[in-house]
Amino acid sequence: MCGIVGYIGDKEASDVIIKGLKRLEYRGYDSAGIAIINGELHIKKGKGKVKNLESMIRGVASSHIGIGHTRWATHGEPNDINSHPHVSQSGKLALVHNGIIENYTSLKKKLESQGYTFYSETDTEIIAKLIESFLEKNPDDLRKSVQLALLQVTGTYGLAIIHSDFPDEIIVARKGSPLLLGVGENEMLIASDASAVAEYTDKVVYLDDGEIAVIRKSDYTVQSADEVELTKEVHELALSLEEIEKGGYDHFMMKEIFEQPRAISDCLRGRLNVEEGEITLGGIDKVMDQLINANRVVIAACGTSWHSGLVGEYLFESLAKMPVEVEYASEFRYKEQLIGEGDVMIVISQSGETADTLAALREARERGALVLGVVNVVGSTIARETDGGVYIHAGPEIGVASTKAFTAQVTVLALIAIKVAQMRGKLDKERSKALIKELSHIPQKIQEILDQSDKIKNIADLFTYAPNFLYLGRSYSFPVALEGALKLKEISYAHAEGYPAAEMKHGPIALIDDMMPVVVIAATQHTNDKMVSNIEEVRARKGRIIAITTPGNEEVAELAEFTLTVPETMDELSPLLTVIPLQLLSYYIAVNRGCNVDQPRNLAKSVTVE
Ligand code: M6R
Repeated sequence: MCGIVGYIGDKEASDVIIKGLKRLEYRGYDSAGIAIINGELHIKKGKGKVKNLESMIRGVASSHIGIGHTRWATHGEPNDINSHPHVSQSGKLALVHNGIIENYTSLKKKLESQGYTFYSETDTEIIAKLIESFLEKNPDDLRKSVQLALLQVTGTYGLAIIHSDFPDEIIVARKGSPLLLGVGENEMLIASDASAVAEYTDKVVYLDDGEIAVIRKSDYTVQSADEVELTKEVHELALSLEEIEKGGYDHFMMKEIFEQPRAISDCLRGRLNVEEGEITLGGIDKVMDQLINANRVVIAACGTSWHSGLVGEYLFESLAKMPVEVEYASEFRYKEQLIGEGDVMIVISQSGETADTLAALREARERGALVLGVVNVVGSTIARETDGGVYIHAGPEIGVASTKAFTAQVTVLALIAIKVAQMRGKLDKERSKALIKELSHIPQKIQEILDQSDKIKNIADLFTYAPNFLYLGRSYSFPVALEGALKLKEISYAHAEGYPAAEMKHGPIALIDDMMPVVVIAATQHTNDKMVSNIEEVRARKGRIIAITTPGNEEVAELAEFTLTVPETMDELSPLLTVIPLQLLSYYIAVNRGCNVDQPRNLAKSVTVE
């Protein structure tokens, strides 16, 4: 999704902004632009990559203040004119915007009747002109003009604004789209994502909805929508440069797949007492009573996080004997709202900024439910708006395809489910100790799978150009089948579908012929016999079977054309292992197909529009 970076200080603003925009490339974008001030505004923008923008702005003018943007089109196709920044009628004000202005058509008509002319098809351009219309009445106060303009606007925004008559300040405003300030020594940055400022400072201030800030080189002020001056907490950013760079791998996705043993160890650190069979989850301690006595538990998430939520459902139901519903966050608000007091919603989000997930969270909270988060990005909006939660501590995930976040989310859900099961008296001591002990072995077992990556690559080479894939699994392996199919389609553009293995008979079996690769996940004990029957059914129709199973499962190995093994584990924890070969399979296929693995077409890392 769109990214914003701004700078004011002694450095060359365009250098800092271009670097920052490069750090935000992973979020997905189609155009990029920059505005700097040197006496007057200088703007360069266009469809395409930040590196093109870099050559466009080089040598244009020296400046110590500027704003930049990567655009992911919502209103108007990706082209030079629709790219941000957008300028006011006088050509003195430039603005970049993340979000959507819902009432832009009516505002545009009103401004046109006042003599304003529009050049782009975007909703953003109206804000630049609207602010200028207020500035005409408040010529000395840019902040005030922004505030008055925003009172007329319906929708969501993260905004950064500069004006050549105010060369010492950047105005920023937030509603529904993340923005933070990076506080440096005699310099300030703004960004929609902390990775753009991490190189310059570890002190950040997160803006909340409705806030407007005036940023100067050595200070800043933040006001609420009703102009009350606020004292904002300065947070320390725990993000190292090493974490947001590729570290020798060709792609972030590969780096993140290989980071999983470390990510899961970090996720478990300080939370397991293997000897005593105990789990500590400080972020939800105070709400555990509400959770274990909940009338209803709803998990809401999108994409890969929804898949981990589905694993969570199996875990909660089988271990804690609590019924759980898993909702697509994007659908939740459009159903009859039955959630309320006494209920618990668990929202799962890597980025902590997904608009649909945030909207579901707010809806549930408004109706009186307790809302808990399973989030990766510390300080993200979802993390801040939940009543409690457990960070997954996977470290920054830059590849658009989520990998280590999935396994870390499942790990956290397993921890919560075991803890709830213990407190509800549904899990005997021995079994609970066994699960906790096994969790502590997961990082090593993931490493063993990663060590077979060459074998997985060989299979990927054989199926690189297959146009369709089917993924089948039962029980804990069903969400893994969905996740394997999503990974493949999002980065390689091959069509793939995940199904509960037995559902195959109710339709998809018609697709199977000797051209169709069928990935079967057969690594859980309690479904083995039934999976073997499903594999037989695929084989009878000459499907090309790639089986994910455990060593020694001869029955499956004999039926499959290709077998990839994962170490034995308890069925409940099997998704943590079975998903790894599927991540690698999709990665190698996408690379073979020449796809842009880290930034697949049309996709954004963090989907901040509904
Ligand atoms: O940041 P979130 O976990 O809330 O993101 C949810 C989805 O947008 C995300 O998982 C998406 O499906 C990924 N591209 C999957 O790899």
